Amino acid sequence: MLLPIYIYGNPVLRKSSQEVDLNDEGLQQLIDDMFETMYYARGVGLAAPQIGKNLRLFIIDSEPFKEIFPDVEIKKAVFINPTIEDEFGEDFTFNEGCLSLPEINAEVVRKSSIKITYWDENGIKHEKATFSGYVARIIQHEYDHLEGKVFTDRVAPIKKMVLKRKLADIANGKVKPDYKIKL
Ligand code: NI
Repeated sequence: MLLPIYIYGNPVLRKSSQEVDLNDEGLQQLIDDMFETMYYARGVGLAAPQIGKNLRLFIIDSEPFKEIFPDVEIKKAVFINPTIEDEFGEDFTFNEGCLSLPEINAEVVRKSSIKITYWDENGIKHEKATFSGYVARIIQHEYDHLEGKVFTDRVAPIKKMVLKRKLADIANGKVKPDYKIKL
């Protein structure tokens, strides 16, 4: 089932999220719906707060990046109750976007690699799994959503001035992406 994507300005995107009950009977359906919603909107990641649920859960699929970045590692995965244990490596500048902030892109600097502990959709625990490059970047971006953050929070102040108007427009509902939204 396609779910509406909650848009910047909605308070659900600013709350920190709660642990997921791995035995929750509705969990698999929720994950399936999130993948369907993400693919429809042509995203590479989607976090539960973006569909209105403050749960520590996000999904990624880096496959669509292949068109722009031929060297991208293809990774499709579900991250439940994740903890980023470490961020390391070089500073990596990347032009980010977000389905909850339509029509905005901005450069964000983050570390190039991470170690993350999480459970997958089969209830298997992954201890301090290492990811780098584009895949790490998607995970870092989605992880922020669980903490009530969005990527523009991390944009350098001088560039944020330029975004201010656009952010206000989005929060006021002056956006028309070609997927279902909730303001
Ligand atoms: Ni996002």
